[in-house]
Amino acid sequence: MQRTLILLKPDCFQRRLIGQILSRFENKGLNIVAMKLIQVTPELSKQHYAEHADKPFYPSLESFITSAPVVALALEGLDAISVVREMLGATNGLKAAPGTIRGDFSSSRQMNLVHASDSPESAERELGLYFSEDEYCVSQPELERFMRAADE
Ligand code: CMP
Repeated sequence: MQRTLILLKPDCFQRRLIGQILSRFENKGLNIVAMKLIQVTPELSKQHYAEHADKPFYPSLESFITSAPVVALALEGLDAISVVREMLGATNGLKAAPGTIRGDFSSSRQMNLVHASDSPESAERELGLYFSEDEYCVSQPELERFMRAADE
């Protein structure tokens, strides 16, 4: 089992796509184990996007990510990190394959609707930025028994 950090970004909030995109993760069989609506501050943006802080596009990215609320959630599932990244598609919505979230809903490199951790190390670091241990709800939905066999 893996946990991964997802952000439904300001474009998702403004375009009222939160429900549709959450549905995709639920339909896939991933479990939401923590979730909240928050306003990202410039400080949190700098921490979250530390690896991009020196890039020319960072000021515009910070302005975007702090422009409206985001939904932060932790998803749990088998291989959740790579499964979710595949579901999102390529970073640039114009290049993302049809059937992926960005391929179906985004036409932008910056406004690509959803962020997801790209590795176990990133997931651990990013989850720590948004959630404390006591914010996780570990109860499993009953349908879990019908998503895969016990030995998978
Ligand atoms: P995300 O997966 O959240 O990780 C970094 C974000 O920076 C990315 O999605 C895009 O929103 C944004 N981004 C990446 N590359 C560029 C770029 N070349 N110009 C503007 N924004 C970018």
